[in-house]
Amino acid sequence: MSETREIPCRGARMSALRSVLQFRDYFEHMGSWVDKAKAEAGAPIFFAHLGMPSIVVTDVVAAANIFAAPKDVVDRIGQPGFGPIELRERLTGGILPAVVSHGEKNASTRRFLDAMLEDARGRFDEMLTKSLEDIAAEWVASGGVTLNAVSGVSGKMTGRWLLDIDLDAAEVSEWPGLTFGIKTSSRLVNFVLGTLNRPKKSAVEMSDRLVETFRKAPRLDHICRIGKDAGLDEEETLRQMAFFTLFNTGALGRVAGGALAQLKLTPEWATAIRNELGDKQLVPSAMNEFPILDKVFTECCRLFGRPRAYYRRALKDFDLPCGDGHIYRVLEGDTLLLSMRSIHHDERMFTDGHSFNPKRFDDNPKLLHYVFIFGPHDKPYRCAPADLGMADVFFKYVLGRLVQGYTWDISPPPEIHADNVDDVAPEDVSLVNFRPRS
Ligand code: HEM
Repeated sequence: MSETREIPCRGARMSALRSVLQFRDYFEHMGSWVDKAKAEAGAPIFFAHLGMPSIVVTDVVAAANIFAAPKDVVDRIGQPGFGPIELRERLTGGILPAVVSHGEKNASTRRFLDAMLEDARGRFDEMLTKSLEDIAAEWVASGGVTLNAVSGVSGKMTGRWLLDIDLDAAEVSEWPGLTFGIKTSSRLVNFVLGTLNRPKKSAVEMSDRLVETFRKAPRLDHICRIGKDAGLDEEETLRQMAFFTLFNTGALGRVAGGALAQLKLTPEWATAIRNELGDKQLVPSAMNEFPILDKVFTECCRLFGRPRAYYRRALKDFDLPCGDGHIYRVLEGDTLLLSMRSIHHDERMFTDGHSFNPKRFDDNPKLLHYVFIFGPHDKPYRCAPADLGMADVFFKYVLGRLVQGYTWDISPPPEIHADNVDDVAPEDVSLVNFRPRS
């Protein structure tokens, strides 16, 4: 390893407004924006103003080192949002969800979520099976579904599984985007953006209606008792359950949408999965015994995973080894932005990184360590249902059952690119002619 280097571009100055506009440009062209900035900086890690002063990390070795760093060196920022993206109190009820909290606040919310999930384990197989069959029947009856609505399926299924409520998948897929506002270091810019980006009245009404559905949920009283044992009052329990079901499940839904489009572009993998599953009666909790489905899952999470960016704060100065063989000096107080579209496409680790190739994990199993499917490989801050063995099988059941039992066309032809905000373009891509396999 070579000598420690300074992080390039540090000290560059920019107004809050230009910084926000640059963040929007980055967010809307995550692949090409980073490639250009990285080339200009001449390093896989560099300073940039992206809504806030950020150290942009594009290197998978650096990301692994940051995720593995002790929590007294690097930790979550612990604010209600993701970097400059702020969660709107009006829609979240002002809670600090597990996915953005840190320290004791995260630990107490996780105690509740883990207990609630463990309590509902007995319902997992039956409710996921029933809800997916109902969803597929709806798609057969309507002839198809937009890929956007597909991303709400995991929220709809989770509503049935945990609360016995029936949510609209399209509304679930819309909710996360409504919760996002922008926050900068300038009050004036925040005021202007806050006014310009105010959520539409109809959006707030939809969100309120959804929260009322949770408030009337048949299993809420039972879940509130679990919340009480973990130190949460009823309103916080309700709001944590709403965020959990409407927001967190989106990680699965987005990967599922990308996977369904990808399998139309590489149908040989759909055939391989179908042959592997045959006509077996699939059981959600037993979906970890299919190696082909497993590597398709991992490759889909590498390409379509969420979040697209992780934020961390350096609590001390430290040296960060990167995949280019150099060590970079991170300073106390630095905001680290792990840009996952670049990190999971890092050519030094993933040959032809933009391409879908599940076989890469057969050729080099070491790569599995560098796909952060559920975030860091260790606690804390790893995906809650993943820690309990429920998240990967949930995904594999959805994809496996749809590929095994149904067939569809896709229209218009999907374009998958690292610059697409939602992975697959154009926005109105839909599964059409959705029907049971004969
Ligand atoms: C394929 C399925 C899924 C994937 C790939 C996935 C991925 C992730 C990732 C990457 C994180 C870390 C996010 C961060 O630190 O910013 C996370 C956290 C989380 N996920 Fe998942 N997730 C999946 C399914 C689910 C489902 C179905 C639920 C709820 C039913 C869920 C609930 C959560 C929660 C509550 C957290 C926050 C945990 C914490 O910070 O303590 N996830 N997930």
